[in-house]
Amino acid sequence: MNLSREEEKLLESDNPTIAKCMEILVALGEIFGAEKLIPIKSAHISGISYKNIGEEGLEWLKNLKAKVRVRTTLNPAGMDLERWKEMGLDDHFVKKQIEVIKALESIGAELTLTCTPYYIHKPSLGDHLAWAESSAVVYANSVIGARTNRESGISALASAIIGKTPYYGLHVKENRAPTILVKVKGDLNPSIVGYKIGSEIDGIPIFDFERRLSYDELKQLGASLASTGNIAMFHVVDQTPEWREFEVPNEKMEIDRVEIEDNCEPDLIALGCPHLSEDEITEIARIIERYGKPKKPVWLFTSRHVYNKLRHAIEKLENRGIKVFRDTCMVVSPATERFECVMVNSGKALTYLPKLRRVKAIFGSTHECLRRAFDES
Ligand code: F3S
Repeated sequence: MNLSREEEKLLESDNPTIAKCMEILVALGEIFGAEKLIPIKSAHISGISYKNIGEEGLEWLKNLKAKVRVRTTLNPAGMDLERWKEMGLDDHFVKKQIEVIKALESIGAELTLTCTPYYIHKPSLGDHLAWAESSAVVYANSVIGARTNRESGISALASAIIGKTPYYGLHVKENRAPTILVKVKGDLNPSIVGYKIGSEIDGIPIFDFERRLSYDELKQLGASLASTGNIAMFHVVDQTPEWREFEVPNEKMEIDRVEIEDNCEPDLIALGCPHLSEDEITEIARIIERYGKPKKPVWLFTSRHVYNKLRHAIEKLENRGIKVFRDTCMVVSPATERFECVMVNSGKALTYLPKLRRVKAIFGSTHECLRRAFDES
């Protein structure tokens, strides 16, 4: 890899954190054949939950001796920073989670604690980023047209501290071309389309839907694709910003139905994977107007940013018996582990709840989830 004199100096820096971060980026670049490092506009770090990072990761964070050089946002933690008691978490976990957050704050990261950092600071078309969190990566590449590889928590942190990332993969325009056309017949739920297609293909799909998807549906589609597959980008005909820049591929497939097993009775309804947008919360508030009190617990997850903008609407939801948590989610928080079966409207949560929290999960649309919570018929 060609390094500038300044980059060489960082590699040999007396500061062990800087030298280590450079080593990580150079090693990554060499593995993937990058010719150089390029500057980034922002970094987004995942693996914030103490449940994921553990004691070893926390010790590593505490020993960092450098500040971030670019705007750096953080993925959800394992708890709502204010309402962790209502989540039923133990004191040890809470203490450790706070230590993780303090360590990241001390290096200059913003305590966004969300997987939708693009609602807070939206990147621009063509911006180079170093983002971890697969759902945010796929949204940034596909819906915004910014450029990021699917970083790990560690490589995103290294990029945050150095302010650069190796130039390979989705930073290079030709690697952003679609590889397979997916025709979606009928009005299928985009989240479940992503869940199915992610497990069946590699590469970059270009979807042809029969109707225009909302931004929230594009978010859901991408998150699901990235959860069952190693997909970091998709295009949608007539919708996403770069689809016209490439030839439509010859390889094609069609999807007209997806069957998902419904094998348990939910004792929790959890919505907000990825974190809910303002529109999604407003829609949930509208849907539940026709219902009374929920018969099952309903937990919503969103960012502190969106929560603060919708305080009034959220208060109304809370008065109706719905809990709205910030800073965390049903997958990264151990709070979900005390339930047997969680109903979700997200292909990503459907994938990860059984794997990471060891609870069963079933899928439904937002309407179906809410109907199940309020009215068992
Ligand atoms: Fe976000 Fe948690 Fe889902 S981090 S994408 S809500 S698994």
